[in-house]
Amino acid sequence: MTRDPSSEASSATSACGGCHRLDRRQFLASASVLSLGALVSGCGDGIISAPEQVLDTVPAPFRLDPATVPELAPIGGRTVVVSGTSAPVLVERVGSAQFRALSLVCPHRGTIVDVASGGLRCPNHHAVFANDGTWLSGQPTAGLTALDVRRNSDGSLMIGGTLTPPALSLNRSAVVFLTTLTGTAPAPQTVAIANDGGGMLGGLAVALTYGSGQRTGWLSLALSQASAPAVLTLSAQRGTLPIGTYSATVSITGAGVSNGAQTLSVSLLVQDPTTPAALQLSSSSVAFTAPIGSTPAAQVVQCNNSGGGSLAGLAATIDYSAGGRGWLTATLNQTTAPAALTVRPTVGTLAAGSYSATITISAIGVASRAITVSLTVTAAGLLVTLAAWPALANVGGVAGSVGNVNGGPVAVTRLSATSFAAFSMRCPHAGTTINVVNGTSFRCPNHGALFNSAGVWQSSPQRAENLAALTVTYTPGATTLSVT
Ligand code: FES
Repeated sequence: MTRDPSSEASSATSACGGCHRLDRRQFLASASVLSLGALVSGCGDGIISAPEQVLDTVPAPFRLDPATVPELAPIGGRTVVVSGTSAPVLVERVGSAQFRALSLVCPHRGTIVDVASGGLRCPNHHAVFANDGTWLSGQPTAGLTALDVRRNSDGSLMIGGTLTPPALSLNRSAVVFLTTLTGTAPAPQTVAIANDGGGMLGGLAVALTYGSGQRTGWLSLALSQASAPAVLTLSAQRGTLPIGTYSATVSITGAGVSNGAQTLSVSLLVQDPTTPAALQLSSSSVAFTAPIGSTPAAQVVQCNNSGGGSLAGLAATIDYSAGGRGWLTATLNQTTAPAALTVRPTVGTLAAGSYSATITISAIGVASRAITVSLTVTAAGLLVTLAAWPALANVGGVAGSVGNVNGGPVAVTRLSATSFAAFSMRCPHAGTTINVVNGTSFRCPNHGALFNSAGVWQSSPQRAENLAALTVTYTPGATTLSVT
């Protein structure tokens, strides 16, 4: 990218004190594809009848750091930039953090437009354009082409490419105020408004509507400025509002945005100070045990309001302690109590071992509550899919030969709605492989030893031990269990 290498000379010859205008020398040096006719016309040397343009009206995106361009320091400051062989681009700071870029190719016949203090003027047929590129007078033609301007994370700009429309972005979608009948006014809250699209986002406006049939006048809005980035400050006043929940909607609009108006829901909770809200959890701990690679069933913790009034602004945050990170999700189904928190570990490729984390549940105006979460990942065992064994649908049901562990066949019994047992199918008397009888018990075909569904020896000519129990890992609700 070349930025006016002859800036001193061009500044001196420009009618616009704050900008660099490309002169004849610069064009020869930096824009080699520019035709001679265009060069002459770009210098404002008179009407040139047919200088057909060969430059790209819309240059490929190039980087410009405004911090290195003194002319762009003040609002209204301008400079002309030539990137590679593209057409000159007029860059103007139009706000503290907003910039505009225009291609200086005249849309009439392609001559390079002069930049002057009074506006932008084509030297060929005298079309005159406003600073924002709008055609004003002279040869009728379209406006100058606006280019995309995007800000990089380091504060520099990417300029070029076809202008994409601006898009409204809010850093939050809901605001909740909490107060009591005797409390002080809640502190104001802010919402950041940004442009997630291209170009400039101006014409910002806000509109306030209150909930149907609700009391009005308790919310006030203040927008820092009419162009993004901007800050919307919301202030709530209880006034004479009685105990209750009051709602309002703020609609934020911007000129030419691609994503339409954005809405912000606002609530004011007026509570009785003698019966404040209180956060109560149905459980303060959750434990999971699962073999490597399995998918344990999620567990749910209820978040309730055990006090008075309303409990809003529920949020869940996770802090990992022992073991790895990122293996847990905690999702609230809503931000107002009562709410359900779904806790779900993802074992994935975690190694066998113990993992722990703390979920902190917070809400507006109340003390937070913590949920400790432990995950024990066991070595991979024989994975049994319950749906594949209909006998395991009923308590007392026995499924035989579901697989092998330690080289021997395994049987699984459903002990209760939430628990299973597993046994080696080697008879403890002489090692013969036993059979499942009627899906509810076991019998050894060798000497006739009988065992019940829990593997306990019942009868036979010779006394036998109970069946050798194996370890079952099962999380209630899961679709699989693991036997080791
Ligand atoms: S080329 Fe005709 S007015 Fe610019």
